[in-house]
Amino acid sequence: MPISIIVGAQWGDEGKGRFVDLLAREAEVVARFSGGDNAGHTVAVGDKLYKMHLIPSGILHEGVVAIMGNGMVINPLSLVAEIDRLREQGVNVTPDNLLISARAHLITPAHIELDKIRERASGAEAIGTTLRGIGPAYHDKVGRCGVRIGEMIQLEDFAYSLRQSLQHANQSLSLQGAAVDVEASVAAYTRAAERLQPFIYDTALYLNQRLSQGARVIAEGAQGTLLDVDHGSYPYVTSSSPTAGGALTGLGVGPRYVDRVLGIAKAFSTRVGGGPMPTEDHGVVGQRLRGTGENFWDEYGTTTGRPRRCGWLDLVMLRYAAVVNGFSELALTKLDVLSGFEQVGVCVAYEIDGERWETPPTSNAQLERANPIYDMLPGWSEDLSQARCLQDLPRAARAYVDYVAQACGVPITMVSVGPERSQLVVL
Ligand code: IMP
Repeated sequence: MPISIIVGAQWGDEGKGRFVDLLAREAEVVARFSGGDNAGHTVAVGDKLYKMHLIPSGILHEGVVAIMGNGMVINPLSLVAEIDRLREQGVNVTPDNLLISARAHLITPAHIELDKIRERASGAEAIGTTLRGIGPAYHDKVGRCGVRIGEMIQLEDFAYSLRQSLQHANQSLSLQGAAVDVEASVAAYTRAAERLQPFIYDTALYLNQRLSQGARVIAEGAQGTLLDVDHGSYPYVTSSSPTAGGALTGLGVGPRYVDRVLGIAKAFSTRVGGGPMPTEDHGVVGQRLRGTGENFWDEYGTTTGRPRRCGWLDLVMLRYAAVVNGFSELALTKLDVLSGFEQVGVCVAYEIDGERWETPPTSNAQLERANPIYDMLPGWSEDLSQARCLQDLPRAARAYVDYVAQACGVPITMVSVGPERSQLVVL
């Protein structure tokens, strides 16, 4: 009956998709609760690669119902394209296994245009958004002037609301010399609405009904704790709540159902976009962690293709993520990437203006001045990609995992050693 929440413990891209995929085998429902097509999940099954930006990766499992919750913001054109792409790959996507919350909000072409304009205008202080219109869509939601997915049920009313919203947006866009084509957008969105209508549902009621009947639900996080609008390095954050608390409001379920909060952390740190990242390494360590970009698992964005900023694991941030989410367990991904380093660094504290900090400062200015204090642990040279149980891991790799678990006060229950479904060590 209960809910397992899976959330990113860092700045996103931790590899949450594969754990959703794993846990979905024993679940009846997989529900995404925040963000939009700024996210990118890649799931490797045999020689097939499934790339999803909006649809929960649980859709790959027969018998699982995938839900896009009310906390999401949805670009209907991207969603229709994603449904078509998955169908072409042989995945069954029907109103029986995909439900979209009528309360989720719409991303309009004006939101995308505004995102671009704001980023351009911010110059060196740009957030480095994915330019998918995420911030402006959430802005309209909390500003109480957004358009909800449920409006798509009545096509004429939907066209009216969207037209009003776009005309209104064009007034401010015109001040920046920009505009969206209102009628072309209304026509394209209306066509998408016709396609999506059968999927639209009151997902909060559906979820609660399934829970009361004993279904196991996976709440699938997008982005990560350090990008959370409240708990991340504001304003260098996304505009939603990708933390465990966000799962409840983003799906419309109560906390009494939650029995597991699984944090996913990479064995090192990565970040894409602007904002402070104390352990970012501009030298050879950063380069080696990033990879060359030849493999899909190298550190280049799934959504934007941007190279990610890389560095050693930041335990100050990871401990903080464990606290604000209340992790019951952690999974560590990409441990195999650390093979071959003579020593592996972990940041245990920051030095800021001559003082030692073991928790992150709330001020970005201070965080920008943080110098990481590292413990250097012995490295290992063995290839980990074939490891499947604890005994297969070299002693130094096991010591690394133990060290991280102890430092966070949270058990590490799984470690991934490659992109394939099977490349997993369950501890
Ligand atoms: P937005 O969500 O497009 O507004 O972008 C805000 C910040 O969050 C930027 O730094 C993005 O790079 C980052 N971001 C958004 N989605 C993801 C993601 O799925 N993975 C990693 N970073 C993300």
